[in-house]
Amino acid sequence: MQLRKAARIILVGAPGVGKGTQSERMLKRFPQLASISSGDLLRDNVRRRTPLGIQAESLMKAGALVPDSTILRLITNDDQPSASFILDGFPRTVDQAIQLDKLIPINLVVQFNTPTSVILDRICNRWIHAPSGRVYNTTFNAPKVDGKDDITGEILVQRDDDKPETWMARLKKFEETSQPLLAHYDKLGVLWRVDGNSSDEISPKLFDEFNKRFGKA
Ligand SMILES: *[C@@H]1O[C@H](CO)[C@@H](O)[C@H](O)[C@H]1NC(C)=O
Ligand SMILES: *[C@@H]1O[C@H](CO)[C@@H](O)[C@H](O)[C@H]1NC(C)=O
Repeated sequence: MQLRKAARIILVGAPGVGKGTQSERMLKRFPQLASISSGDLLRDNVRRRTPLGIQAESLMKAGALVPDSTILRLITNDDQPSASFILDGFPRTVDQAIQLDKLIPINLVVQFNTPTSVILDRICNRWIHAPSGRVYNTTFNAPKVDGKDDITGEILVQRDDDKPETWMARLKKFEETSQPLLAHYDKLGVLWRVDGNSSDEISPKLFDEFNKRFGKA
């Protein structure tokens, strides 16, 4: 299938929302799309000892951030610049988005919208019996008695990284940092929001929207 016009896409979604899954499915479903990851480009250029890679590496070794202008050059200098792509890892700020717009205007920003409670249910269901290391998954492999180890009857605990509080904080931070970026793209008229509680619910909507915007009429 030939696309009606080049698709230049960014996916924005909270941690745990399944952004990586959607990206993989899009690439598989629409082979015209390439994946461009700013992190991969950076690592690749460091490994191949390109001038930009050498410059970036010395900055990182000195503990400095690689400037936006370098990342932009990596993206636009890509050996096989692809007409249609999903860009990953960049931009994260409005400033970066404005710079990117000047070089390659993004024409679809997908915002994944899944209720926080649904994300937490999916992520925070791991409980552990610390002395034995037995792991329970309260959604798929629940202990016989709530909060108790099946064998010893001792209490189960959660690792910090599995606790709802940890994820609430992470999700809140994401919301705060992504909001200005989303507002920027909304103003440009390229923001599209998709609601769904699971990857399987979201994918068909995403495919439809892609076809509507970029597929042959
Ligand atoms: C619980 O199990 C399900 C099914 O195997 C899995 O999808 C989910 O990621 C598990 N939860 C955690 C926190 O590992
Ligand atoms: C998604 O989850 C929310 C919150 O649990 C629920 O109200 C809603 O009905 C769910 N939507 C679907 C389509 O299952």
